Amino acid sequence: MQKEYKRYLVTSALPYANGPIHIGHLAGVYVPADIYVRYLRLRGREVCFVGGSDEHGVPITIKARQLGVSPQDIVDTYHHQIKESFSRLGISFDVYSRTTSEIHHKTASAFFRKLYDEGKFLEKETEQYFDPEANTFLADRYITGTCPRCGHADAYGDQCEKCGSTLSPDELIDPKSSISGSIPEKRKTKHWYLPLDQYEPWLREWILENHKEWKPNVYGQCKSWLDNGLQPRAVSRDLDWGVPVPVEGASGKVLYVWFDAPIGYISNTIELYPDTWEKWWKDQDTKMIHFIGKDNIVFHCIVFPSMLKAHGGYILPENVPANEFLNLEGEKISTSRNWAVWLHEYLDEFPGKEDVLRYTLCSTTPETKDNDFTWKDFQSRNNNELVAILGNFVNRAVVLTHKYFKGTVPETGTLTPYDREVLGSVSAMKNALEEHLEHYRFRDSLKEAMNIARLGNKYLADTEPWKVAKTDMERVGTILNISLQLCARLTIALEPFLPFTTKKLRDILNITKAFPWSGLDNETLLQTDHQLNEPVLLFDKIDDDAIVLQTDKLKKPVVKKVVPASPECTIDDFEKMDIRVATVLHAERVPKTDKLLKLTIDTGLDRRVIVSGIAGYYTPEEMTGKQICILANLSPRTIRGIESQGMILMAKEPDGSMRVVSPEDKIGNGAVIG
Ligand code: 2FM
Ligand code: ZN
Repeated sequence: MQKEYKRYLVTSALPYANGPIHIGHLAGVYVPADIYVRYLRLRGREVCFVGGSDEHGVPITIKARQLGVSPQDIVDTYHHQIKESFSRLGISFDVYSRTTSEIHHKTASAFFRKLYDEGKFLEKETEQYFDPEANTFLADRYITGTCPRCGHADAYGDQCEKCGSTLSPDELIDPKSSISGSIPEKRKTKHWYLPLDQYEPWLREWILENHKEWKPNVYGQCKSWLDNGLQPRAVSRDLDWGVPVPVEGASGKVLYVWFDAPIGYISNTIELYPDTWEKWWKDQDTKMIHFIGKDNIVFHCIVFPSMLKAHGGYILPENVPANEFLNLEGEKISTSRNWAVWLHEYLDEFPGKEDVLRYTLCSTTPETKDNDFTWKDFQSRNNNELVAILGNFVNRAVVLTHKYFKGTVPETGTLTPYDREVLGSVSAMKNALEEHLEHYRFRDSLKEAMNIARLGNKYLADTEPWKVAKTDMERVGTILNISLQLCARLTIALEPFLPFTTKKLRDILNITKAFPWSGLDNETLLQTDHQLNEPVLLFDKIDDDAIVLQTDKLKKPVVKKVVPASPECTIDDFEKMDIRVATVLHAERVPKTDKLLKLTIDTGLDRRVIVSGIAGYYTPEEMTGKQICILANLSPRTIRGIESQGMILMAKEPDGSMRVVSPEDKIGNGAVIG
C-alpha cells in the first residue's frame, strides 16, 4: 500500500547565479518539476514548489574575478535575470529566493551551529595550497597546472576539462595560482568535516533497502558511492564569499557551498511561510521530492540527508528523480564555448512560443540516458505535432461548430458504440496519465495527453461530419459535441505541460474556470448550448529560416576573451602619468633570467635604463633602434639588482602574449602622449 501524504514539498536545484539558464537546466530539472507540481495542484493537493538562486561558492567568485566586479554584482545581475526568465516560461515556483538573503544566512548558520554544538563534526587541520602573493588560500578551481593523466597544460585543481578526470590539487604537475600566477605553497588550515562514514550503515538501509523504487540511474549512483565507502567531508572553506562559519576563531572561513545551498530549500520555505514552514519540513505527512540533474545526486541523496539526519527533526526526501544530461546538436552543452540555447534569448526570439520549448524539452527529457536537442527536432515537434495534431484537431472542432451551430455546443443524439468507445478510452487515459506522472515519467505522460488529440483527429476523420452535414444534422451535432468534450478534456490533460496553450484553449472554449483533474473522466464538461468564442490558431508553423538562424548562431565563433574593463578613472588620474615616446639605444638580456631585457633608452629628457619582461617576445636585436612608448614618471624599482627607471607600454593579450606599442611614424624622442 502506498502511503497517502497530506502535502508535497517539491524542490528544484538552486542554479548558480553566475550565468543565465539554458535548455540543459530546463530539460533536466525545471520543466519536469513544473509539470509535476502543476499536476499535483490540479489534483487539489497541497503543494509548495521551492526554487531559488545558489549565490555562494567558487563559481561565483571566479566569474566576478573574470569580469572585474564584485561577487555581489554577479549574483544581483543573474538572480534577477534567472528569476524573470523562469517566470516567463511559466515555471510556477511558490517561492524563488536567494542564498544571499538574511533569512538564509541565519538559517544556514543556525543549522551549522547546532551540529557544531552537538559535536557532530570532526575538526581537522590539513595542509592546503595558499597563494602568498594574493594572501589567500586557494580553492581547487583557482589552482591550475598540468593534468597528470593527459598532459593538458591548463587543468584545474578539481578537474581536467580536456580528459574529464576528477583531480585533486595535489596531483597537478607544476601547480600555479590562477589569481596571481605565483607558485602556491602549502599552509595549515583548520576545517570542519561531516563524518559521512558514520552515516553509511543508515544510508545503506534507507536507500538501498527502503528506496529500491528510485530511478535506476539514481539508485545505481548511490550504491556505487556507498560501496566505495564514504569519507568525512569538509563543510567549510577558506573563502571570503559565503555564509561565515559561526564559530569563534573562524574568520576568513565560510560554509562550503554544498553545505549551505540545500539548506536554501529550508530558508526559502521559511521566507514564504514564516509561521507554518515547519509543517513542510518536519511533518511525516509531507512528501519531499528533489528535482535535480545527475551531477547533484550525491549531494541530495547522501550529503544533505546525512545533514538532516545529524540535525534531527527533519523529513527526508521520498524520491530524487534526477535526470541525465541534455546535449545540443550532438555535442555537450558548454557555456564557455557558448554551445547552448539560452532561455532569455529564446523567449525574446520566439515570443508566444513558450509552450513549444516546454513541449520539445519534455519530449526529449533525458530521463534514462543523455538525450539530444536539435533545432530540426524542435521545428518538427512544432509543425508535425503541435500544429498538425493538437492545433488541427481543436481548430476543426471549433470551426465546424461555428459553421453548423453558430458556435454553440450542439446536443447529442443517440451515441454509437464508436462514440462510446472514444469517450471511454479518454477516461482510461486518465489512469495511464496518473500512473506516469506519479512515477516521474514525463515523456510518456505527455505522449498520453497528446493521444487525446490524436484520437480526436482520428474520430473526425472516421466520422466525417462535413459529409454527414448533407444528410443528418443531428449526427453532426453528436460528433461535434463529442469532439468539443475532447477539447475540454485537453485543457486538463495538457495543463501541466502546456499552460499557455491550455489558457488559450479555455478562452476559445469560453471556459472561465479551469476544470479540476477529476474532470478528465467526465464526459460532459461542456453543457449543450454553451457558447464558444471565435477560433484562433493555437500554434503556427515555424519555417526553415527561423531554424537556420538558430543553427547559424550556434556556429558563430565565440568572441575572443578580453581582459575585463578597469574601474573608471578621471582625467586627473590620467594626467598624473607622463607617457612619452623614446628610442631604444641598446638592449641586452639580464643574465640568469628568461624574461628580462635591460634597455638603455633616449627619452628626450634623459638617457636611462628600463628593465622589461619582454625577452620572451623580443630579442635584444629586435629592440635596438625601436621607438617605444614609456611611462616616464614611474617611481624607480630595482629588478635583479638593476635600477629600472620607468616602464614600457605593452599591448597584452589575455593569454599573456605581448607586443610593444610603437608610434606609426618616426617622432621626436620625448613627445608627450595624451
Ligand atoms: O549544480 C548546481 O548548479 C548547484 N548550484 C545546485 C545546488 S542544488 C541545492 F542544493 F541548492
Ligand atoms: Zn587531463
